[in-house]
Amino acid sequence: MDIRLKKNVLGLLVAILISCPPVSQVMAQSSLESSMTRGKLIYRNECMICHAGNGEGLVRAFPPLANSDYFEDDISKAVEAISNGLEGEIVVNNETYYGLMDPIKLSNQELADVLNYIRNSWGGKATELTANDIEKMR
Ligand code: HEC
Repeated sequence: MDIRLKKNVLGLLVAILISCPPVSQVMAQSSLESSMTRGKLIYRNECMICHAGNGEGLVRAFPPLANSDYFEDDISKAVEAISNGLEGEIVVNNETYYGLMDPIKLSNQELADVLNYIRNSWGGKATELTANDIEKMR
Protein backbone atom coordinates (compact mmCIF):
# COMPACT_ATOMS: atom_id res chain seq x y z
CA MET A 1 0.00 0.00 0.00
CA ASP A 2 1.50 3.37 -0.88
CA ILE A 3 1.93 5.98 1.81
CA ARG A 4 -0.87 8.30 0.56
CA LEU A 5 -3.42 5.51 0.55
CA LYS A 6 -2.39 4.58 4.11
CA LYS A 7 -2.92 8.17 5.22
CA ASN A 8 -6.38 8.20 3.66
CA VAL A 9 -7.38 4.98 5.40
CA LEU A 10 -6.13 6.36 8.72
CA GLY A 11 -8.03 9.61 8.15
CA LEU A 12 -11.21 7.67 7.46
CA LEU A 13 -10.82 5.62 10.65
CA VAL A 14 -10.32 8.77 12.72
CA ALA A 15 -13.41 10.33 11.12
CA ILE A 16 -15.51 7.25 11.97
CA LEU A 17 -14.28 7.25 15.59
CA ILE A 18 -14.99 10.95 16.06
CA SER A 19 -18.52 10.66 14.65
CA CYS A 20 -19.48 7.89 17.13
CA PRO A 21 -21.14 9.01 20.40
CA PRO A 22 -19.14 8.31 23.58
CA VAL A 23 -19.43 4.74 24.76
CA SER A 24 -20.65 5.79 28.23
CA GLN A 25 -23.59 7.65 26.69
CA VAL A 26 -24.64 4.66 24.61
CA MET A 27 -24.43 2.31 27.59
CA ALA A 28 -26.39 4.58 29.95
CA GLN A 29 -29.19 4.94 27.45
CA SER A 30 -29.50 1.29 26.51
CA SER A 31 -29.35 0.24 30.16
CA LEU A 32 -32.49 2.24 31.06
CA GLU A 33 -34.20 1.20 27.86
CA SER A 34 -33.60 -2.51 28.36
CA SER A 35 -34.70 -2.21 32.00
CA MET A 36 -37.93 -0.57 30.82
CA THR A 37 -38.50 -3.30 28.23
CA ARG A 38 -38.27 -5.95 30.95
CA GLY A 39 -40.37 -3.77 33.27
CA LYS A 40 -43.14 -3.43 30.71
CA LEU A 41 -43.54 -7.21 30.62
CA ILE A 42 -43.66 -7.42 34.42
CA TYR A 43 -46.19 -4.57 34.46
CA ARG A 44 -48.42 -6.39 31.97
CA ASN A 45 -48.24 -9.67 33.86
CA GLU A 46 -48.45 -8.43 37.45
CA CYS A 47 -49.96 -4.94 37.64
CA MET A 48 -52.04 -4.05 34.60
CA ILE A 49 -55.08 -6.07 35.64
CA CYS A 50 -55.69 -3.56 38.46
CA HIS A 51 -53.73 -0.42 37.62
CA ALA A 52 -54.87 -0.47 33.94
CA GLY A 53 -53.07 -0.28 30.61
CA ASN A 54 -51.70 3.23 30.94
CA GLY A 55 -51.28 3.25 34.71
CA GLU A 56 -54.43 5.30 35.11
CA GLY A 57 -56.05 2.92 37.62
CA LEU A 58 -59.80 2.79 38.11
CA VAL A 59 -61.87 5.47 39.84
CA ARG A 60 -62.36 4.75 43.57
CA ALA A 61 -61.03 1.18 43.23
CA PHE A 62 -57.43 1.16 42.02
CA PRO A 63 -55.14 4.18 42.42
CA PRO A 64 -53.12 5.42 39.43
CA LEU A 65 -49.42 4.71 39.02
CA ALA A 66 -49.02 7.17 36.15
CA ASN A 67 -47.62 10.34 37.72
CA SER A 68 -48.74 9.18 41.18
CA ASP A 69 -47.89 11.72 43.88
CA TYR A 70 -48.00 8.92 46.46
CA PHE A 71 -44.40 7.89 45.77
CA GLU A 72 -42.99 10.63 43.55
CA ASP A 73 -40.94 12.16 46.39
CA ASP A 74 -40.16 8.88 48.12
CA ILE A 75 -39.84 5.88 45.86
CA SER A 76 -39.36 3.60 48.88
CA LYS A 77 -43.12 3.97 49.52
CA ALA A 78 -43.75 2.19 46.21
CA VAL A 79 -41.16 -0.49 47.02
CA GLU A 80 -42.82 -0.96 50.43
CA ALA A 81 -46.34 -1.18 48.94
CA ILE A 82 -45.31 -3.76 46.35
CA SER A 83 -43.14 -5.98 48.54
CA ASN A 84 -45.22 -5.87 51.74
CA GLY A 85 -48.68 -5.10 50.35
CA LEU A 86 -50.84 -2.10 51.21
CA GLU A 87 -54.16 -1.81 53.00
CA GLY A 88 -56.43 0.97 54.24
CA GLU A 89 -56.95 4.62 53.42
CA ILE A 90 -54.48 6.34 51.11
CA VAL A 91 -54.71 9.54 49.06
CA VAL A 92 -53.29 9.52 45.55
CA ASN A 93 -53.51 12.61 43.32
CA ASN A 94 -56.28 14.08 45.53
CA GLU A 95 -58.47 10.95 45.42
CA THR A 96 -59.05 8.74 48.47
CA TYR A 97 -58.82 4.96 48.17
CA TYR A 98 -59.71 2.29 50.76
CA GLY A 99 -58.29 -0.77 49.13
CA LEU A 100 -56.12 -3.78 49.59
CA MET A 101 -53.12 -4.85 47.57
CA ASP A 102 -51.46 -8.17 48.37
CA PRO A 103 -47.66 -8.34 48.41
CA ILE A 104 -46.12 -9.19 45.04
CA LYS A 105 -42.94 -11.28 45.05
CA LEU A 106 -40.33 -9.63 42.81
CA SER A 107 -36.54 -9.67 42.89
CA ASN A 108 -34.63 -6.40 43.39
CA GLN A 109 -33.90 -6.31 39.65
CA GLU A 110 -37.55 -6.98 38.72
CA LEU A 111 -38.72 -4.25 41.09
CA ALA A 112 -36.19 -1.81 39.61
CA ASP A 113 -37.34 -2.76 36.09
CA VAL A 114 -41.06 -2.34 36.75
CA LEU A 115 -40.49 0.98 38.56
CA ASN A 116 -38.23 2.23 35.76
CA TYR A 117 -41.03 1.41 33.33
CA ILE A 118 -43.74 3.06 35.46
CA ARG A 119 -41.73 6.20 36.20
CA ASN A 120 -40.62 6.72 32.59
CA SER A 121 -43.91 6.00 30.83
CA TRP A 122 -47.13 7.94 30.34
CA GLY A 123 -45.38 11.31 30.28
CA GLY A 124 -43.16 10.64 33.30
CA LYS A 125 -39.40 11.01 33.38
CA ALA A 126 -37.06 9.83 36.12
CA THR A 127 -33.52 8.66 36.68
CA GLU A 128 -32.77 4.97 36.44
CA LEU A 129 -33.15 2.76 39.53
CA THR A 130 -30.82 -0.21 39.97
CA ALA A 131 -31.26 -3.46 41.89
CA ASN A 132 -28.82 -1.99 44.42
CA ASP A 133 -31.06 1.05 45.03
CA ILE A 134 -34.01 -1.28 45.69
CA GLU A 135 -31.98 -3.45 48.08
CA LYS A 136 -31.32 -0.37 50.23
CA MET A 137 -35.06 0.45 50.40
CA ARG A 138 -36.29 -2.99 51.48
C1 HEC B 1 -55.23 -7.11 42.55
C2 HEC B 1 -55.09 -5.71 42.21
C3 HEC B 1 -53.70 -5.11 42.21
C4 HEC B 1 -52.55 -5.56 41.57
C5 HEC B 1 -52.41 -6.82 40.73
C6 HEC B 1 -51.52 -4.59 41.85
N1 HEC B 1 -52.02 -3.59 42.63
FE1 HEC B 1 -50.99 -1.95 43.30
N2 HEC B 1 -52.61 -1.37 44.39
C7 HEC B 1 -53.85 -1.99 44.39
C8 HEC B 1 -54.72 -1.30 45.33
C9 HEC B 1 -56.18 -1.66 45.60
C10 HEC B 1 -53.96 -0.27 45.91
C11 HEC B 1 -54.43 0.70 47.01
C12 HEC B 1 -54.34 0.07 48.38
C13 HEC B 1 -54.94 0.95 49.45
O1 HEC B 1 -55.96 1.61 49.17
O2 HEC B 1 -54.41 0.99 50.59
C14 HEC B 1 -52.64 -0.32 45.26
C15 HEC B 1 -51.62 0.57 45.53
C16 HEC B 1 -50.41 0.61 44.86
C17 HEC B 1 -49.40 1.62 45.05
C18 HEC B 1 -49.44 2.85 45.97
C19 HEC B 1 -50.47 3.85 45.52
C20 HEC B 1 -50.20 4.51 44.17
O3 HEC B 1 -51.08 4.44 43.30
O4 HEC B 1 -49.12 5.09 43.97
C21 HEC B 1 -48.36 1.29 44.22
C22 HEC B 1 -47.05 2.04 44.04
C23 HEC B 1 -48.73 0.08 43.53
N3 HEC B 1 -49.99 -0.31 43.94
C24 HEC B 1 -47.93 -0.56 42.61
C25 HEC B 1 -48.26 -1.79 42.01
C26 HEC B 1 -47.37 -2.50 41.12
C27 HEC B 1 -46.02 -2.00 40.63
C28 HEC B 1 -47.99 -3.65 40.79
C29 HEC B 1 -47.43 -4.77 39.94
C30 HEC B 1 -46.11 -5.28 40.29
C31 HEC B 1 -49.28 -3.66 41.46
N4 HEC B 1 -49.39 -2.51 42.19
C32 HEC B 1 -50.23 -4.67 41.37
C33 HEC B 1 -54.20 -3.10 43.63
C34 HEC B 1 -53.34 -3.86 42.89
